[in-house]
Amino acid sequence: MKLQHSLSSVALLLAAAQEDLASSPDAALELAALLRRAAPVAPDGYTPASVSCPSTRPSIRSALELSAEERAWLETRRNNTIDPMREFLTRMNITDFDVGGFFDDVGTDNATALPNVGIAVSGGGYRALMNGAGALAAFDARSGNSTGGGQLGGLLQSATYLSGLSGGGWLVGSMYVNNFTSVADILNTTPEQSGSLWQFQNSIFKGPDKGGFQVLDTAEYYTTIQRQVDGKATAGFNTSLTDYWGRALSFQLVNASAGGPAYTWSSIADDADFSDGNAPMPILVADGRAPGETLVSLNATVYEFTPWELGSFDPTVFGFAPLKYTGSAFEGGELPSSADCIEGFDNAAFVMGTSSSLFNTFILNLDQLGNVPQALRNVVENVLNDLGDDSNDIADWTPNPFFHFNNESNPNAESERLTLVDGGEDLQNIPLHPLIQPVRAVDVIFAVDSSADTEFNWPNGTAMVASYERSVLNRTMENGTAFPAVPDVNTFVNLGLNARPTFFGCDANNQSGPHPLIVYIPNHPYVAASNVSTFDPDYNHTQRNAIVENGYDVVTLANATVDPDWPACVGCAVLSRSLGRNGLDVPRVCSDCFDRYCWDGSTNDTDPGSFEPDFVLTEIQLAGAASARELGFMTGSDVTTV
Ligand SMILES: *[C@@H]1O[C@H](CO)[C@@H](O)[C@H](O)[C@H]1NC(C)=O
Ligand SMILES: *[C@@H]1O[C@H](CO)[C@@H](O)[C@H](O)[C@H]1NC(C)=O
Ligand SMILES: *[C@@H]1O[C@H](CO)[C@@H](O)[C@H](O)[C@H]1NC(C)=O
Ligand SMILES: *[C@@H]1O[C@H](CO)[C@@H](O)[C@H](O)[C@H]1NC(C)=O
Ligand SMILES: *[C@@H]1O[C@H](CO)[C@@H](O)[C@H](O)[C@H]1NC(C)=O
Ligand SMILES: *[C@@H]1O[C@H](CO)[C@@H](O)[C@H](O)[C@H]1NC(C)=O
Ligand SMILES: *[C@@H]1O[C@H](CO)[C@@H](O)[C@H](O)[C@H]1NC(C)=O
Ligand SMILES: *[C@@H]1O[C@H](CO)[C@@H](O)[C@H](O)[C@H]1NC(C)=O
Ligand SMILES: *[C@@H]1O[C@H](CO)[C@@H](O)[C@H](O)[C@H]1NC(C)=O
Ligand SMILES: *[C@@H]1O[C@H](CO)[C@@H](O)[C@H](O)[C@H]1NC(C)=O
Ligand SMILES: *[C@@H]1O[C@H](CO)[C@@H](O)[C@H](O)[C@H]1NC(C)=O
Ligand SMILES: *[C@@H]1O[C@H](CO)[C@@H](O)[C@H](O)[C@H]1NC(C)=O
Repeated sequence: MKLQHSLSSVALLLAAAQEDLASSPDAALELAALLRRAAPVAPDGYTPASVSCPSTRPSIRSALELSAEERAWLETRRNNTIDPMREFLTRMNITDFDVGGFFDDVGTDNATALPNVGIAVSGGGYRALMNGAGALAAFDARSGNSTGGGQLGGLLQSATYLSGLSGGGWLVGSMYVNNFTSVADILNTTPEQSGSLWQFQNSIFKGPDKGGFQVLDTAEYYTTIQRQVDGKATAGFNTSLTDYWGRALSFQLVNASAGGPAYTWSSIADDADFSDGNAPMPILVADGRAPGETLVSLNATVYEFTPWELGSFDPTVFGFAPLKYTGSAFEGGELPSSADCIEGFDNAAFVMGTSSSLFNTFILNLDQLGNVPQALRNVVENVLNDLGDDSNDIADWTPNPFFHFNNESNPNAESERLTLVDGGEDLQNIPLHPLIQPVRAVDVIFAVDSSADTEFNWPNGTAMVASYERSVLNRTMENGTAFPAVPDVNTFVNLGLNARPTFFGCDANNQSGPHPLIVYIPNHPYVAASNVSTFDPDYNHTQRNAIVENGYDVVTLANATVDPDWPACVGCAVLSRSLGRNGLDVPRVCSDCFDRYCWDGSTNDTDPGSFEPDFVLTEIQLAGAASARELGFMTGSDVTTV
């Protein structure tokens, strides 16, 4: 409560310090309704509200199997990946491998025999969003030129799952709440266009530009956010800093005009394109952390948000709640007849804000507040002093849907509060957890790592080591998962495993249990210094596009100019488990690829010293550029449907 009031006064003072409060934010809502955006379905904007319950009252289910919704959706999606995957693998030019014959023999009427592909985009703030965006653009057949020689377009269309965490979750969420739009289309929008996203030149403290279709100035931006969060609090729900953070994020990621207060994460399930199996399934990750705890250890419960559910496969909670009805007071896995059905709690940006709660500290960063008068700064400072450090970064999901659920194993079963934090706080900064669950039977994961591990913000394998340790070294948390062996972080750096793509878990038999092959793809400088600080809040379009282009080059190895066989090797990684499962020979080119890209088990754990990689290609000059570069993939796309 204290936090809430203090922030209210900050925002109100901020607003009062500005002159013009006249124009109505509701006009923005009307405008937004005219735009092509999917599903602002919450009953009362940002405020959760009670609705009439469905005939079968919502309840919590066990995590023993996949949800009925996911299983039904998979049948459609797996089917729909067959044609794109056939085309993709044909383009990958796997010498002496008959793609058509493979599909005819193996998959014509049985999609589950075919490769099951997952893509995971790590956390790391805007750096992770932009580098990840380059990766997804490269994998997306809708990107112009992405289906030519040396390219990887079509991998996204072949994928079953797409997981994101923190900054990677902003990328995934931004695409899905906008009808699975492409990265190219997002980048192509200009500030003048209505509803344009990713205007990172306007820092989140300042809000959108007023001009074009934008109707809010900075004062209105703050009062709009304040009004939305107050509405939720007045309706009796706990609010936390994450509510403010999520609302602010929303203007850049969901809807530039009004922040899309009514867009829920669960509404993705109603999107025709998604439910028809025309896009992979998006999953966001967050960690459980009890209020007052400051450290998130590797045995913290990992939660996931799917379009249908919030829950965990971990043996602790081991259950899933219907996401649409979070905010309802579940008890012992049921919704008591005295309790209302609540909808609208799972605001899409609140979900993204939960997965990225670490960045709450963003809005506590005074230096970024621009032309804020000193008097206001003093107020903000007082707020900071009142807040315990430990409570800055929680997202409050009270009432705890898992209250009195799995009492023996659930450490949080006796608490009516559920507080979640940034999915990277347990160091598992790549959202692999949902994709290594045996029930999902994923064959290969393309893991895009934009972590800032080293002194100069490059990844060093810390996220892989964390997931390995959790799955393999803690027998309790393992709970049926398996993870390929990975070396220590010094070895990652010494052997250059953090400087180019590396395959882990190539030998399916040499493991503790069935697990996916992981194609680890670390952020690396090709044409841009893509190691920008995690807490850098603004980027002009020149820099934004350069980092996205860099990400494109990272995953394609500069469109296969670094290694002409790279597309074939990506194809081999996709095929690997499926070849084994169907007793087929490994093509010669694939054996060569595995020799080259699989970690061979060797180590060198000497302290590598400072890691300062050179640019692989020539750096794009940012200073003095008249405008942002048009990226090759932004010019027209050869595929319009997915
Ligand atoms: C969503 O995208 C699909 C495929 O591009 C398109 O057919 C559909 O009309 C879009 N829906 C909305 C509401 O814009
Ligand atoms: C998947 O494809 C097979 C073979 O074409 C077909 O029998 C089956 O009905 C399809 N399933 C769905 C859910 O579309
Ligand atoms: C396909 O691979 C062969 C052999 O590696 C190579 O000669 C050929 O140029 C490649 N074709 C394309 C389109 O990349
Ligand atoms: C489909 O393929 C899977 C994996 O190879 C196999 O377990 C399953 O029995 C097959 N189903 C049918 C109907 O052939
Ligand atoms: C493994 O995880 C369980 C469940 O969270 C925890 O109680 C235990 O302390 C962990 N063991 C180790 C060695 O970390
Ligand atoms: C997690 O494991 C550590 C040991 O690694 C232990 O000290 C701690 O109590 C465990 N936490 C929980 C919640 O089980
Ligand atoms: C995972 O944990 C749940 C809940 O504790 C348990 O019922 C299940 O048997 C475990 N699965 C495996 C494979 O250990
Ligand atoms: C790797 O990253 C971790 C932080 O994630 C850091 O503590 C460690 O010093 C780094 N080591 C190397 C060799 O880069
Ligand atoms: C191990 O790494 C260190 C530090 O990078 C390097 O100096 C040394 O040559 C490496 N040792 C071997 C055997 O490659
Ligand atoms: C964009 O940002 C970069 C990096 O801060 C800077 O070097 C460049 O001058 C900026 N370009 C414009 C047009 O502002
Ligand atoms: C690779 O292709 C993309 C898309 O056309 C383009 O943006 C990028 O500049 C290309 N990279 C190189 C190194 O040619
Ligand atoms: C992309 O394709 C367009 C037209 O098809 C072409 O003009 C452009 O040069 C290509 N860009 C790259 C980077 O290949």
